[in-house]
Amino acid sequence: MTELKNTRYLDTLAKRPVDRTPIWMMRQAGRYLPEYREVRAQAGDFMSLCKNAELACEVTLQPLRRYPLDAAILFSDILTIPDAMGMGLYFEAGEGPKFSHTLQNMHDIAALPIPDPEKSLKYVMNAVSTIRRELKGTVPLIGFSGSPWTLATYMVEGGSSKTFSKIKRMGFESPEALHLLLDKLADSVIEYLNAQIDAGAQSLMIFDTWGGVLSPRHYRAFSLDYMAKIVAGLNLEQASGRVPVTLFTKGGGQWLELIAETGCDAIGVDWTTDIGEARRRVGDKVALQGNMDPNTLYAPAHVIREEVQLILDSYGSGPGHVFNLGHGITPDVKPENAEAFIKAVTELSPIYHQSI
Ligand code: CP3
Repeated sequence: MTELKNTRYLDTLAKRPVDRTPIWMMRQAGRYLPEYREVRAQAGDFMSLCKNAELACEVTLQPLRRYPLDAAILFSDILTIPDAMGMGLYFEAGEGPKFSHTLQNMHDIAALPIPDPEKSLKYVMNAVSTIRRELKGTVPLIGFSGSPWTLATYMVEGGSSKTFSKIKRMGFESPEALHLLLDKLADSVIEYLNAQIDAGAQSLMIFDTWGGVLSPRHYRAFSLDYMAKIVAGLNLEQASGRVPVTLFTKGGGQWLELIAETGCDAIGVDWTTDIGEARRRVGDKVALQGNMDPNTLYAPAHVIREEVQLILDSYGSGPGHVFNLGHGITPDVKPENAEAFIKAVTELSPIYHQSI
C-alpha cells in the first residue's frame, strides 16, 4: 500500500501535533464547481454519477486539484442504504431526494432487508477502491454514512421534511416500530462502513443531519444510542492503524459530552456552538471538526479571513482541531470564495501549532 504523504488530518484526529490546522469542506465535491456540473451532466443524473466508479472518482478529486485540502471524501450519498433496501430513491429537480415507497408501520419495517454491501452496494465499494488508488497516497480518504435516525427520517417522511411529523408521530405512537427500523439501519450501517474500511476508507464520518430536531430524551433514545452501537460494531483497529470515526449531529451542540462518550474519535460541530467552549467541554476525550457558518462564504475574502481567525483563536493552541464548515457548502458559493477560506486556514493556523 502506498504510504500516506499528508498525515495532518489523521494526526489531528489522533490529537498528535501537526504543522497547521488541517482543512476539508463538507460537500466539497458538488454543484458550486463548474467542473462538477459538467461531469454530472455527462452522467445524466445524480445516482448514475454515484454508481459509476470512474466518474465518482473524478468528482471526488476535482476539489483537490483546485485547493490544498487535507482529506478527500468519497463521492456518494447517505441515501444509498435505503435505496439498497428497495425504497426506490429518486431525485426531483429542486426538491431534493424522494422515495417511491414510504414506511408506515411495523409490517413495512419488518419486511425491510439488511443490504449486503458486497452486492447491492458494491458500486460504493468500487468507488472507494478506485478513489483510493487514484489518490496515490496524497491525502486520506473519508468514507461515510448517514446516522440511523437521519436515514429513518427520509424513509418515513418519504423525502426531506420541515416538521418531521410522521416520524415523530411514530416515535410517540409506536416506538417499538421505530426502534426496529433504527436497529436494522444500525446493523446495515455497521456492515456498510466495515465494507468501506475493507475497500480502503481511512477515516469514517457519520452524518446525523436531523438529530438536532429531537428532544433530549428522544435524541438519546432514537439517535445517539444507535450511533454508539455503530461505533462499537466497527472494525476500527486495522493493521495500518486506527480508522478514526467522526460523529456529526447538526444542532447537537447541547449534547457534546454525551456524544464524546460513544467511543468516537471526533465530533463535528455546527456553527451554533463556540468551538473553544466545545473544546473546554469535551476536554481531551475527542478531537473536534468545524465550524464556520457556510453562509460566510457569500461574504468578501477579508470577512471570510476574519471569521477563520476568530474560530482559530477560539479553539486556541495545540492539536485536535480539523477546520471545516459547520454544514455543507451551498451550490451558489463562488469557487474563489472557497479558495479564500482554505487559504486563510493554511496561512493563519501555523502559529497555533508552534511548540513553546
Ligand atoms: O461531501 C462530499 O463532497 C461528498 C458527497 C456527499 C453528497 N451527499 C453528495 C450529494 C455527501 C457526504 C452527502 C451526504 C448527505 N446526503 C447528507 C448528509 C450531509 C448533510 O448535508 O447534511 C444528506 C442529508 C444527504 C441527502 C441528500 N442528498 C440531499 C438532501 C440532497 C439534495 C441536495 C440538494 O441541494 O438538492 C442530496 C443529493 C446530493 N448529494 C447532491 C450531492 C452533490 C446534489 C445532487 C446533484 O448533483 O444534483
